[in-house]
This record gives sequence, structure tokens and C-alpha cells, in this order.
Amino acid sequence: MQRKTTLTGITPSGTPHLGNYIGMIKPAVAMSAEGSGNHFYFISDLHALVKCHGAERVERFTVEIAATWLALGLDPERVLFYRQSRIPEIAELHWILGCVAPKGLLNRAHAYKSLRDRNTRRGTDADTDVSLGLFAYPVLMAADILLFDADEVPVGTDQIQHVEIARDIAASFHARYGAQFRLPRAVVGDAPSIPGLDGRKMSKSYGNTIPLFCTADALRGFIRRIKTSSLAPGEPKDWRQCTLFELYRGFAEAHEIAAMMRRYEAGIGWGEMKDLLVDTIDRRLAGPRSLYHDYLEHPQRIEAVLEQAEQRVRRIAHHRLQAIRQAVGLRPSALHATHGHPGHPDPTSAHAGCFE
Ligand code: TRP
Repeated sequence: MQRKTTLTGITPSGTPHLGNYIGMIKPAVAMSAEGSGNHFYFISDLHALVKCHGAERVERFTVEIAATWLALGLDPERVLFYRQSRIPEIAELHWILGCVAPKGLLNRAHAYKSLRDRNTRRGTDADTDVSLGLFAYPVLMAADILLFDADEVPVGTDQIQHVEIARDIAASFHARYGAQFRLPRAVVGDAPSIPGLDGRKMSKSYGNTIPLFCTADALRGFIRRIKTSSLAPGEPKDWRQCTLFELYRGFAEAHEIAAMMRRYEAGIGWGEMKDLLVDTIDRRLAGPRSLYHDYLEHPQRIEAVLEQAEQRVRRIAHHRLQAIRQAVGLRPSALHATHGHPGHPDPTSAHAGCFE
């Protein structure tokens, strides 16, 4: 039995916020700390270029994400933590997979489709603002996943379709060239979607996020701004679908969460709840916050961690890509050895299937 491989990418397209922590970072770090399989967690900086168009921003978000994950306890001894762009084999596999990926499959990918729909609604050209990179986004993701034979891919619900596309692309490859890849499976965590300042899902695109590593004072300011109902202290409150409670759940221990449900029923006041929430978050994040700033002040420490992993990952990638190159016919010239007619291979065999 081969060890199970878990792989996931993190796109550096914004400063990490509390929603990222509860929904992704916390479960991913916990998962890497238990179990014994292989873990590949990478910063998908090539994907970031699709949407993030300033060099400084891409660079800054990459460093911030690396510092965040390391500060929150990602153990580089257990997890290969690397930058996608440092593994050129991924970009090469992206091209090879692009030559088997049916265009019709990609036409149905959500990101592309919703942009086309928007354009159609506006009456502009259907491909306005569509780059080839946006269209091929799922192919690059398939390369990320298939190159390392990932079994499980932890993702948010918005990325499930991409993992399915990776499976479909692998199947197309297998039909043409024979079996080569393990088929990945999306694993969706049970973390609920985390509400932001306005009660909608916390998301950079809604501008309702709370940064993970702001100062305790700034944190207090953000939490105070969260909208609550007009129920007065003493009136029973419903912890279900309460933004404050969802955030609390992300940071408190199980027994504290249970106790808090009872306090809601007993009518805890919003002001008191907000203070408790700030304290609870701060208790968990104060240590990581100072580690985070430490990393940002010593970026060479981040670089060293990433580079070390990248050397290892490149060795794996190189080895895998050789087999794939072999499978598709990108091989050292051996024709003259077998046929004795360099430049004139038998048209009925070597050319078969090339042009029809
Ligand atoms: N597209 C993913 C996101 O934005 C990030 C990502 C890139 C990824 N490559 C991946 C996730 C491969 C899982 C596997 O969330």
C-alpha cells in the first residue's frame, strides 16, 4: 500500500483573514500534524497571476501567506511547503495536459462560464476580460494535482469542480496514452462558511474581512462593527446563524462552545459577547501574531524553508515528468537504433494517429 498523498494550493491573492484561518488553515495544519501520509501544501503563485496584476502585490501576498502558515504551526518537516512557480515541471505538465483536455470541458468551468455570462448580460463580447490563463486555470490545477499523484485534495466547495476536471483530464490522458496518474478526490471540510462583518460569507470580494494578524486593538474595532440584532441583554438569543458565535466557535475549545450556547439561551448581552470574542481570538492568535511579524522581518527565514522544500519537490517532479514525457513520446531519439533510417520512420507506424 502506498502512502496516502494529500495536496492543496493556496492562492496568494489577499492578506489572510479570520475566514481563511477557520475554514482552511486550521484544519489543514491539524491534518498535517496527525496522520502519516505525504503532504504537499503549496502557494499557487502562478494561479495568482490570473487575477493579481501587480508584481509587488503578488510578492507581498506570497510572503504573507508563507509567514502566516509557518506562524500558525505548519511543520516544514512534515509538509512540503513550496511555491508552485519554483517547480517548472508543473508548467510543462500543464501544456501536456492542455493537449488532452477537451475544450468543451473547460467551457463549463465556473469561473470562465460566469464571466462569459456576465459579458453576455452586458451585451459585450463574450470573451471580454477572459485571458487564456483564466480559461486554462483548471488545467494548471490538474497539473498541480496529477504530477504528485495526490489522493486527497482538501478544498472549499468552490473548488470541487476543478478537482473533478482534474480527474476528467487524467481519464482523457489515460485513454490516449495508458494509465499514468492516480485519480484525486476532493475533500471538503465540515467548517461552515464563515460570516464576515456584514453577515455575508467573509470574503475579500465583499470587503467584509477581518485580518488575521491585525493588532488586538484593531481586532476589537472590527468585532465591535459586526452587526447584531436589537435584542437587549437578558433576552434569549439564537446562536445559530450568529456571526459572533460562528467566529467564537472557530477559536474556542469544545467545552467553551457548549457553555456559550447556554449563555445565548440565557440572554448574554452583545457587548459582553463581543468582549469575550475578542479575548478568545486574541488568546489564540497573540503567539502566532508575534511569530508572524518575526518572519516578515526576517524574510530570509521564509525563503530558506521554501527553498529547501522546493529542492525536494523538484526531484520528485522531475522523476514523475520523465515518465510522462516518455508516455507521450517526448523521449531521447532512439528511432535510428531500431529502424536504421533516421528521418524516415515507417509512415504506417510512427506517424499513426498524429494528424487525423
Ligand atoms: N484554485 C485554488 C483556490 O483558489 C488553489 C489551488 C491551485 C489549488 N492549485 C490547486 C487547490 C491544486 C487544490 C489543488 O483556492
